Amino acid sequence: MCGIVGYIGDKNVYPILISGLQRLEYRGYDSAGIAIFNGDLNVYKCKGRVSDLENHVADKDTGGHVGIGHTRWATHGEPNDRNAHPHTSMNGNFVLVHNGIIENYAELKTTLQKKGFTFQSDTDTEVLVNLIEYFYQSGEEMDAETAVRLALSKVVGAYGIVVFCKNEKNRLIAARKGSPLVIGLGRGEYFIASDASPIVEYTDSVIYLNDLDVAIINKDSLTLKTVENAPVPFKVTKVDMSIGDLEKGDFDHFMLKEIFEQPKTIEDTFRGRIKPDHSDIVLGGLLDIFPKIMQARRIILIGCGTSWHAALVGEYMIEEYARVPVEVEYASEFRYRNPILDKNDVVIAISQSGETADTLAALRMAKEKGATILGICNVVGSSIARETDAGVYTHAGVEIGVASTKAFTAQVTVLTLFALKLAKEKGQIAPELYGSLIHELAEVPDKLKSILVMHPHIKEVAAKYKDAINALYLGRGYLFPVALEGALKLKEISYMHAEGYAAGEMKHGPIALVDDNLPVVVVAAKDSYYEKIVSNIQEVKARRGNIIAVVTEGDDTLKAMVNDVFEIPKSHPFVTPLLAVVPLQLFSYYIAVMRGCDVDQPRNLAKSVTVE
Ligand code: M6R
Repeated sequence: MCGIVGYIGDKNVYPILISGLQRLEYRGYDSAGIAIFNGDLNVYKCKGRVSDLENHVADKDTGGHVGIGHTRWATHGEPNDRNAHPHTSMNGNFVLVHNGIIENYAELKTTLQKKGFTFQSDTDTEVLVNLIEYFYQSGEEMDAETAVRLALSKVVGAYGIVVFCKNEKNRLIAARKGSPLVIGLGRGEYFIASDASPIVEYTDSVIYLNDLDVAIINKDSLTLKTVENAPVPFKVTKVDMSIGDLEKGDFDHFMLKEIFEQPKTIEDTFRGRIKPDHSDIVLGGLLDIFPKIMQARRIILIGCGTSWHAALVGEYMIEEYARVPVEVEYASEFRYRNPILDKNDVVIAISQSGETADTLAALRMAKEKGATILGICNVVGSSIARETDAGVYTHAGVEIGVASTKAFTAQVTVLTLFALKLAKEKGQIAPELYGSLIHELAEVPDKLKSILVMHPHIKEVAAKYKDAINALYLGRGYLFPVALEGALKLKEISYMHAEGYAAGEMKHGPIALVDDNLPVVVVAAKDSYYEKIVSNIQEVKARRGNIIAVVTEGDDTLKAMVNDVFEIPKSHPFVTPLLAVVPLQLFSYYIAVMRGCDVDQPRNLAKSVTVE
């Protein structure tokens, strides 16, 4: 949540800040602001998008070579001009952008107020910048860096910050705890951002800050130390991201581009991991830790939102084929409920961003209790990827649309590989079945292409249901999590209320909702539950519900029974979730567009949820 950027060097800073904020806008879009130093300190900020900020500064002085910027996802204080970042300290010496939450801000604010500090905003961030100012004024010899470190030592909560001090004109100070921060290394210049996307245009050499790191950044030098003033060696990493990955190309929205990328991203995720003759799977990231995984008493999959849905698919696959007990937990519940965990447990965190606060905290808790912790992350170098004992990256590429699409199918692909590999190593799967399921997975990209070409039909169906108030999604077995994911996609981007349900549960409550106004989306591909789900469809039909079914190609029985169908190619049920979810992603997308919603940046949401 919230995106921050900073630059120090010889370039004109304004375009760097604006394009950086545009790339980070997926992290929050309640307000935007910049501070640029050019002899004077110019701070411009306003409610709304980065484009609103551009209009706001159109006639203003934006010259300068040092600056910071922020795009906000509101926590403390409503989205308005006053609460927009950057925040300036009362005496005007410091200006700061912040991503995170200062949990003890109220207590700190009272203390500062007693010392005569006054505040202009409702934010926790303004408290932090004034705390820095307070320490700065506390001694003759005090410099900005020491004041920042002293202030941070008093703070409870999470922060990624970039600070500028008016009296130290050629320096930026950055620090992190809990919220990500990356420093890009140029020649005689440095870039700072919440992720590498604003940086890759200029350099592929980056340093990922660790928790409690403080970076003192001059145009020609960089020093890293801890909040406690101990030196920190830094490791320069190469980022594998291209500008093309960050642009929409010919698509109207990032979400649509990302849906259409899935044949490639699924292939990228399994390529190099399955042998060309489909005889085996190699998960390089888990090689050393596999003996521990083999001994695990149980596997616990944790995640949030879409990643939690991927975990549910994983649970079904691992239990069915590897015969290891699996539990799936919402990270936000798991971290607080004192679960029973020990060294016999393997906890796998699933996260696109690798920065989700609840997932990260749950993982840390599991580690403390002695469990082996693994990650399935998309963002390379993210906090979860770095804090786990081992892991497997999904290779979905940068996902910018707030609604997760290609990350979900990439996560399910990794879980498919993992379940099969574990099944094989445990001797739970016959070699022929092992080979044929690998083969099934390898065929998914081509099958997906044949679904994607049906987008005009999906759009036509979407037009029929775009004005509905509610929708119900049903599925069974491997397709139950797909129903949940379909409902989540619809509600988050179109604001139409949608519920996902295990189809067998319908008669225990949701059936009361069914009438001739309710679209009921049933994921009913041919698998071992088929007959049961056909009965559920009959039950909905008997109550005059409108049924849209995802069916296996050539299923004339269901075609005749329901109002609309999305056909998917015949496949083994094990890989069907990868196919069945795609028409539902497109269905949500078209409905949201027709309802005039901002598909890539839906209201109240942010891509990377780095607050609890
Ligand atoms: O980055 P993560 O996978 O950890 O994010 C988890 C959820 O915040 C995320 O999946 C969210 O539910 C998406 N908006 C769903 O489309």
